[in-house]
Amino acid sequence: MQQLLVTIDGPAGAGKSTVSRKLAQRLGYRYIDTGALYRGVALAVSHSDFDPQDDQALAQLCASLKLEFRLTENRSVLLLNGANITNEIRTPEITALSSTVSSRPVVREHLLKIQLEMGRKKAVVFEGRDMGTVVFPKADIKFFLDASLRTRASRRYDEMEDQDSPTLTEIEMNIRQRDAQDANRLTAPLKPADDAVKIDSTRMSAWEVVEFMLAQIKLKFDISKS
Ligand code: DC
Repeated sequence: MQQLLVTIDGPAGAGKSTVSRKLAQRLGYRYIDTGALYRGVALAVSHSDFDPQDDQALAQLCASLKLEFRLTENRSVLLLNGANITNEIRTPEITALSSTVSSRPVVREHLLKIQLEMGRKKAVVFEGRDMGTVVFPKADIKFFLDASLRTRASRRYDEMEDQDSPTLTEIEMNIRQRDAQDANRLTAPLKPADDAVKIDSTRMSAWEVVEFMLAQIKLKFDISKS
């Protein structure tokens, strides 16, 4: 059976994580959430006292970090220098800081090496913003997943259980800001690769998106189990 490297890029809240995880399960592949790596660096920055725009300090910090995914009880957890940071990286503060940190070329260069190493053996679904354009321009198949701003905000809103959660309008504003920052940065901006299959999931369920992706993969490759 052919082992593929699949990339899924797209803006915040387009459903990439759910779809990437499900697609990886269906293919029997590993799933790598590269946003979590940027969030890991942001968490380390938040624990230090330097300005996130200070490239020299950022480079030193990156060199001291060991970021790795580990599979425990069927769940992928992110370890930073051995400590499980899977939940800590999901706060609104780290979400905002990860967007700032991810615009710094020194951080991107550092994480590029880690991601290339993770993709060496293929049989993996990579989720992010620049997977198909910068990190794996020769990926076997690339997808770009998008949805309307309102839909993306509503999905995020529905995921929140906390009473103190932001309102739908606040989430929409936050996503709009993050999209602008991710799409307008100079290094590896968010955009579809020329050869990506573009999918608008505004009116599609995660299941439908995964089935569509599998159909696209089967059109190009033999992925039947031998
Ligand atoms: O996908 P996410 O929301 O967890 O990503 C967190 C931030 O990291 C987001 O602002 C975009 C950035 N990011 C990136 O620049 N490149 C990637 N490959 C993945 C995420």
